[in-house]
Amino acid sequence: MDIPRIFDISESAHRIHNPFTPEKLATLGAALRLEPGTRVLDLGSGSGEMLCTWARDYGIGGMGIDMSRLFTEKAKLRAEELGVADRVEFIHGDATGFVAEEKVGVAACVGATWIGGGVAGTIDLLARNLLSGGIILIGEPYWLQLPPTEEVARACRAGSISDFRLLPELLMSFANLDYDVVEMVLADQDSWDRYEAAKWLTMRRWLESNPDDDFATAVRAELTSAPQRHAAYTREYLGWGVFALMSPQWHRAARAPVMLASDRLSARASARMPLARPRGAAARPGRASTGSSCSTPTSSRTWSAIRAGRWRMRSPGRARPASA
Ligand SMILES: C[S@@+](CC[C@H](N)C(=O)[O-])C[C@H]1O[C@@H](n2cnc3c(N)ncnc32)[C@H](O)[C@@H]1O
Repeated sequence: MDIPRIFDISESAHRIHNPFTPEKLATLGAALRLEPGTRVLDLGSGSGEMLCTWARDYGIGGMGIDMSRLFTEKAKLRAEELGVADRVEFIHGDATGFVAEEKVGVAACVGATWIGGGVAGTIDLLARNLLSGGIILIGEPYWLQLPPTEEVARACRAGSISDFRLLPELLMSFANLDYDVVEMVLADQDSWDRYEAAKWLTMRRWLESNPDDDFATAVRAELTSAPQRHAAYTREYLGWGVFALMSPQWHRAARAPVMLASDRLSARASARMPLARPRGAAARPGRASTGSSCSTPTSSRTWSAIRAGRWRMRSPGRARPASA
């Protein structure tokens, strides 16, 4: 079980696998006013930079799960390097349907919402890991401006225009799922450059070291096309941000007026611009997709067994006893 090789190659030198800089990650941690000792769960934790630096800077503890063997090893090394290995743990595995035994104060999925079958399903999955009054973090792209054609959307690496929303629509979609947006930190063009342009030198160096590798042609093609594509499309059309969400369920008394206000806002905005929705999603995606997104959950007991080394992952979403 691993991710496509192009990511392992092009992002092997990245500490953050998203259009965020270390400064933006620190800003997000500070914005959340994290209390020392808060437990953070990170699904798709990459090379572990969020958990490791927040453990160092804000005294949190927690667990990250990632499907890349390489990134997970990097995360463990980073935890050692920053002296936080006793507080943060990294597991190589498929986070689909992951529900921990212990609920956490912050449950995050930063740039990997396919893990829950989309934004709504991922929020639902994270909510199942969350203590009452806790915070959900979702990292997700949005359109800075709507692409004029489907071809432009695909050049931004979207499947289609309807895969993403404009920022106000994305924020509205969280409200429609009954969540309050309580914070957000957004990428900008410079932080996109740090994510995308940092791949180019890594790919170039890899090509120099591996000229005869079977994968060299693919990496060469990517290196040749990526700078122009980034400048013309991603940098101009795609935004990205991390959104902090809290469920108002535990605080229902304050909910009614907020709903009325946001519904009026929603009605006005909808009149100006129709909501773009992912293909096949219903008008209230949380309600529609929640069930199917967690249809093959890996139980917490199974995850305990994986962590104890009694089971091993074979393919995404499935685990088998180590002796099998
Ligand atoms: C865009 S990167 C974000 C990584 C990290 N959150 C960060 O900001 O640096 C997406 C990550 O999700 C991981 N991933 C993809 N599918 C996954 C799955 N089913 N379960 C766990 N991790 C997964 C990838 O290996 C990759 O590290």
